[in-house]
Amino acid sequence: MEQKLLQMAEEAKKVLEEAKSLEEINEVRIRYLGKKGELTRILRGMGALPPDRRPRVGQVANEVREVIEATIAARTAAVKERIKQARLLAEKIDLTLPGTNFSLGHFHPLTLVQRQIEDIFLGLGFEIAEGPEVELDYYNFEALNIPKDHPARDMQDTFFIGEEVVLRTHTSPVQVRTMERMAGRIPVKVIAPGKVYRRDDDATHSPMFHQVEGLAIDTRITFGDLKGVLQTFAAEMFGTSTRTRFRPSFFPFTEPSAEMDISCVMCGGRGCRVCSYSGWLEILGCGSVHPQVLEMSGYNSEEVTGFAFGMGIERITMLKYGIDDLRLFFDNDLRFLEQF
Ligand code: PHE
Repeated sequence: MEQKLLQMAEEAKKVLEEAKSLEEINEVRIRYLGKKGELTRILRGMGALPPDRRPRVGQVANEVREVIEATIAARTAAVKERIKQARLLAEKIDLTLPGTNFSLGHFHPLTLVQRQIEDIFLGLGFEIAEGPEVELDYYNFEALNIPKDHPARDMQDTFFIGEEVVLRTHTSPVQVRTMERMAGRIPVKVIAPGKVYRRDDDATHSPMFHQVEGLAIDTRITFGDLKGVLQTFAAEMFGTSTRTRFRPSFFPFTEPSAEMDISCVMCGGRGCRVCSYSGWLEILGCGSVHPQVLEMSGYNSEEVTGFAFGMGIERITMLKYGIDDLRLFFDNDLRFLEQF
């Protein structure tokens, strides 16, 4: 019996030496140590042996099991190591190769310029205000002193959502919403950037575009304050040599109203194609807040005054970067966008 057991140990070691995979090793384990395995069978049959022989045979059987288990463990480790080495070899990593490049996105030129405008006015003590793009007729027109029969309400310009609801045609309604929110408190110093909508579509007009509104209300605010703030803005946006001029204009919600020009960014004012040889570029509308507008939104026009302005972000961006077609902003052509 002992002889048979020792022989079994030798035999198991030999098959294990030849086992090349974890599956093969497992088969060997089942064959000797499994429920119906050869060694298990012998251990079970121990009862049939004469009692004086049992301890010796039992001892040998245990030793044989330990030998087989140890061999299985050693063999398993060896096979696993071989599999790992083979995989590492197959991977062939070349650490000198350049890495996989992935390109980072970046901000749209309009976003860049909007943020720059925001930074300039934040530096001048303004806060940023927001309002809805789908706006009530009251805020877009009525409270801005634009009566029902005003041409600005014409179907040519305004997208109507309903009888009293429009897509805002300018950011000026945020003036009204800000005054309502402030409920007569001063000072008011806000800018309001955002999307606006008009029924227009060509090389210089898009049905959706962007504006930045400005509004300041306090005691003793004058047109001089407006000029100072906008001159500072122009200098920071287009360079310190930029000059400004104000031409009389008309808006129902400002009085007096003006259009601000800057000296041409292309020719410095000498005259070129961009400025139609005038030396000047129109960049925004502005004025002193109309007393009627102040009163309608809860401010006493005898006690406070204010100024307001509104500029197109597309126009500023085109001038800043020398872009001649507005549609480039919305075509999503990477050859254009990647330049910023
Ligand atoms: N809302 C005017 C426009 O869209 C611009 C403007 C704003 C003019 C504020 C004066 C004061 O053209």
